[in-house]
Amino acid sequence: MRTEGAPRPTACPDPLVGRRILVAITGSIAAVKMPLLVSALAKRGAEVRCVVTPSAAALVSPVALASLSRHQCYLDADQWSPQAPRPLHVELAEWAELVLLAPLSATSLGRWVHGLADTLLASTLLATEAPVVAAAAMNTSMWQAPPVQRNWQVLSTFERVLALGPAQGLLACDRQGDGRMAEPEQLLMALESVALWGWQRDWQGLDLVVSAGPTREALDPARFLSNGSTGLMGVLLAQAARLRGASVHLVHGPLQVHPGLLEGLICTPVQTAAQMQAALMAAQGQVDAIAMAAAVADHRRVEPMAHKLSKLALGDLWAEGWEQVPDLLAGLVASRPPGQTILGFAAYSGDGLAAAREKLRHKGCDWLFANPIDQPDAGFGSPGNQGWLLGPGGQEIEMQPASKLAIAHQLLTALRPPQLSQPGP
Ligand SMILES: Cc1cc2nc3c(=O)[nH]c(=O)nc-3n(C[C@H](O)[C@H](O)[C@H](O)COP(=O)(O)O)c2cc1C
Repeated sequence: MRTEGAPRPTACPDPLVGRRILVAITGSIAAVKMPLLVSALAKRGAEVRCVVTPSAAALVSPVALASLSRHQCYLDADQWSPQAPRPLHVELAEWAELVLLAPLSATSLGRWVHGLADTLLASTLLATEAPVVAAAAMNTSMWQAPPVQRNWQVLSTFERVLALGPAQGLLACDRQGDGRMAEPEQLLMALESVALWGWQRDWQGLDLVVSAGPTREALDPARFLSNGSTGLMGVLLAQAARLRGASVHLVHGPLQVHPGLLEGLICTPVQTAAQMQAALMAAQGQVDAIAMAAAVADHRRVEPMAHKLSKLALGDLWAEGWEQVPDLLAGLVASRPPGQTILGFAAYSGDGLAAAREKLRHKGCDWLFANPIDQPDAGFGSPGNQGWLLGPGGQEIEMQPASKLAIAHQLLTALRPPQLSQPGP
């Protein structure tokens, strides 16, 4: 996920372009992270307005926020301007298509869930009908305090709210624990998700396992065989499911994605196909669905060399001593419990549809997403993807070029196990 402002390829539209986003900032030290996030949103083509509480205005400069959002930053005093033809909180509430409430302090959380409207920000939150992405941030003991926990529980029942609990880490108060605001990368991804899908939690109560990234098979202690998968598609699929309410376990090889994108997932990092297989088999019994987005190596050394090979000796290595890696997807299909839905991925170059049909038949999974790796806006390392989703009963759905998060949401809608009745947007 990019925070930089480089324009996306037109074939892969950015879901935040032209969206009216209200960034509401309260009095947590994490507010200092917001100006750059506001800048990233503006550079991506969103229309941004900022509103701050008096405490937030003491921690982060409203002038910086105004400059980076290309618009006045609203303060409490603006609510009482004699020039305002309509109440400012109503204007802002109606203007916003999406609200990012970050960081959310204990005080503002309490105000909101108790319906208090004693600041511009608090009255705007009560007045808006836009979806809100809310990210709490506070000292660990404050976060764990029973009244705060009760308020957070109430907030998680609100419609239109995507509540992101704090992450673990070193806090500004020198505590190590829960309390850090979700990383800006995570906030951007959540906003993009709400822009694409909304706040509906149609995967609530379901468990999903996702595999992502490449595997690495050692040749010797210095070298390995791998591929160009960054893991972004699998990570975004996992996050989209989490934001739709699922409990998600991500089994991943070495990733090249921002670490903030892993927040909120149960992660098992692995290196080799054998480790990935063991982790997936261990997780399989308890879950409703599995999505195999990992790019697993096809071959490995029967015995990796114990010592680093010379350049010359490396040349001899290719002739013999190789074995095929077990087919992880076929193994999962063979050992799945009744009712478990399995989605496989197939990377192709050239015309992959015929090969994808054959792979679906041969592997026996329910769904197969065949995606090209030789198109400019798709495949390894690209923010976008496209392809064909093949499913039960001969379904063949062509997926047009879109961001990987948009593709992830489309896959989740198709994959949603039949026991789910609640439809999405
Ligand atoms: C330097 C500093 C850092 C603070 N950080 C936090 C924080 O991370 N989370 C929090 O809930 N309160 C924090 N507070 C306390 C709030 O600013 C205070 O509770 C205030 O009433 C919040 O009001 P607001 O929600 O209207 O901004 C901090 C206060 C100071 C002085």
